Amino acid sequence: MKPTPQHSFPSGFVWGVAAASYQIEGAVTEDGRGPSIWDTFSHRPGTIDNGDNGDVACDHYHRWPEDLDLIRSLGIASYRFSVAWSRVMPDGRSVNQTGVDFYKRLVDGMLERGIRPLMTLYHWDLPEALDAGGEAGWLSRDLPDRFVDFALVMGKELGDRVPEVTTLNEPWCSAYLGYATGEHAPGRTTPALAYRAAHHLNLAHGRAVSALRSVLPPTADLSVTLNIHQVQPASEREDDLAAAEHVDLIANRIFLDPMFGGGYSPDLLATTADLTDWEFVKPGDEDEIGAALDSVGVNYYNPARVAAQDGTGRSFPGTQRARFVDIPGPRTVMGWPIVASGLTDLLLRVQRDCGLPMRVTENGMAAPDELIDGAVHDDDRIGYLHDHLAAVHEAVEHGADVRGYFVWTLLDNFEWAWGYDKRFGIVHVDLETQVRTPKDSALWYAGVIRDNGV
Ligand code: FCB
Repeated sequence: MKPTPQHSFPSGFVWGVAAASYQIEGAVTEDGRGPSIWDTFSHRPGTIDNGDNGDVACDHYHRWPEDLDLIRSLGIASYRFSVAWSRVMPDGRSVNQTGVDFYKRLVDGMLERGIRPLMTLYHWDLPEALDAGGEAGWLSRDLPDRFVDFALVMGKELGDRVPEVTTLNEPWCSAYLGYATGEHAPGRTTPALAYRAAHHLNLAHGRAVSALRSVLPPTADLSVTLNIHQVQPASEREDDLAAAEHVDLIANRIFLDPMFGGGYSPDLLATTADLTDWEFVKPGDEDEIGAALDSVGVNYYNPARVAAQDGTGRSFPGTQRARFVDIPGPRTVMGWPIVASGLTDLLLRVQRDCGLPMRVTENGMAAPDELIDGAVHDDDRIGYLHDHLAAVHEAVEHGADVRGYFVWTLLDNFEWAWGYDKRFGIVHVDLETQVRTPKDSALWYAGVIRDNGV
């Protein structure tokens, strides 16, 4: 018999699962889809482990009915999916109705199955045309308006059937991994550029929110999805505390302050003065970025422990002044430390800073799964999910207004620079045959949903 849950979640709590277009769809040249920066980047030698790419991925573009059936069969109430901008606007500017229609079918398929859609507009797959041939991707001040055009197409076409829309997924990754470290598309490696990119992402977000308000029903729930870093100083030494403060400003407050606090903090401008003079922030931008939201998406995997850079460790993206320090204890196969209590702390912090209802829009782990006799006994993942759900509950008990939890992710998929080796799914995918096999964690999650608690 299953144990009675110790932690029951509030009624109306939404149990979900999350995914992203480039990681699962494949079909990259089908039905008029244009290339995205991730197509270009992943085909550049040396960028992705094993030379992997998203050309086929989980073939979700063709297998979505089966995947939605799977979601329904597990009792999962909501599916957070993302839209491939270059399917909808292959050149970043003109509309490809066939691409729009794919997402209409997908969303209608969810609604027919009683699954609530949460639509992420931008999960990193920028149309290549907006980053090539003289265009400059997120460095361009033109990009926020291109994003507004895209948001309006999706809002007008799907707004009647998608109750929740989130603008950007983890703009920190787009800015810092895309422009400072080069681990992500478009693979630029100039730290100063990350700040310009971050500002244009912020502006794109704010302008899209205002534009979407004019086309979405008044009941629409608009959000942004952030990976706010749970930053821990390595010691109480003054230089380590200063490094942690510096990282909080460049990784977290660069998004939180303009979105929720009225504008960029003078502390951020001061702490980055060696890299940028912020000339790209124009009068009125901060007001636009601060457009009112209804909720916030919180992605969490692990905390970041940082110390002052002394030349011995890997620098935090976008700065030479702070380095990562190992957190002792268990790790996932990504090398990411497993610290469930960090999620409690993070939710309470975001609640304080944003004052809005939250959803945990991503949480999960990559594990060394093995498919044996048609089963994957991923007890490590069950333990991770259990402990993180308990951490969410703890945050709720301390006053955090958390309305839902989305496991990252349904299917083993293209894990960006790590390729296919890193399996995050609660459903195993055989990449040769595309056969899906729910892992033990999927069955466990279905039980959690039935019992509404862990
Ligand atoms: C997040 C991304 C998501 C996935 C997980 C593991 O940063 O949003 O696409 O790759 O990490």
